[in-house]
Amino acid sequence: MAHYVDLHSHFLPGLDDGADNLDTCVGMVRALAGMGFSDLCATPHQFAGMFQPPLDQVRLTFDQVSCEIATMLPDVRLLLGAENYWDDVLASRIRQGEPPCYDGGKAFLFEISPAVMPPRLEAALFDMRVAGRLPVLAHPERYSAVQRDLGVAESLSRQAALLVDLAALSGIGDRAQVKTARRLVEEGLAHAAASDIHDPDDSPAIASGLAWIEKRLGAEGVKRLLSDNPRRILIGQLP
Ligand SMILES: [Fe+2]
Repeated sequence: MAHYVDLHSHFLPGLDDGADNLDTCVGMVRALAGMGFSDLCATPHQFAGMFQPPLDQVRLTFDQVSCEIATMLPDVRLLLGAENYWDDVLASRIRQGEPPCYDGGKAFLFEISPAVMPPRLEAALFDMRVAGRLPVLAHPERYSAVQRDLGVAESLSRQAALLVDLAALSGIGDRAQVKTARRLVEEGLAHAAASDIHDPDDSPAIASGLAWIEKRLGAEGVKRLLSDNPRRILIGQLP
């Protein structure tokens, strides 16, 4: 087993636009394990007005799924996080010192509006770093400011870990996202890559993204983006 770490996925059932039932959930976990992922972080959306399952319900679902997976796939470790939209709810949670982090640690995953960069984003990220947190930006290839100017990603990468989607690297889908994701990896700006799986049908594109990294950067690059760097991120270090 390759022991990859997936920092972004939506396999917990019934919480957001990911898995809709336990069978689908198990199918997604099996598919990721089959690609070599041993550590899977469940990151259901926390997005006001869209998907905002109560955190105690998220924890309950995570515990139930963990019990199932421990029996079926004992070599797979599940961790709990969240994909936090950059909104007032996240701002308030950060002010109170409790944004939903990976595994109760220092690192937390967030996403922003694809069309408009939040004002003062870099300054806010800097403040979080000073406070000891590690922000992790989901799918930087999706944001139009990054697509227009990779310098934006370079600035953000000093304060936040950049986590590209494997499916974007596969070459399938939106051309601007594919081009940007590949450039972020080729120019060393992406710290890690993740599945962002929402459905078992996403698996071929995710596997194809992994194959693209191996072809472009070799086994060493795969190890860095899928194992070494994600493990550092989980302990709150910016790789
Ligand atoms: Fe996501």
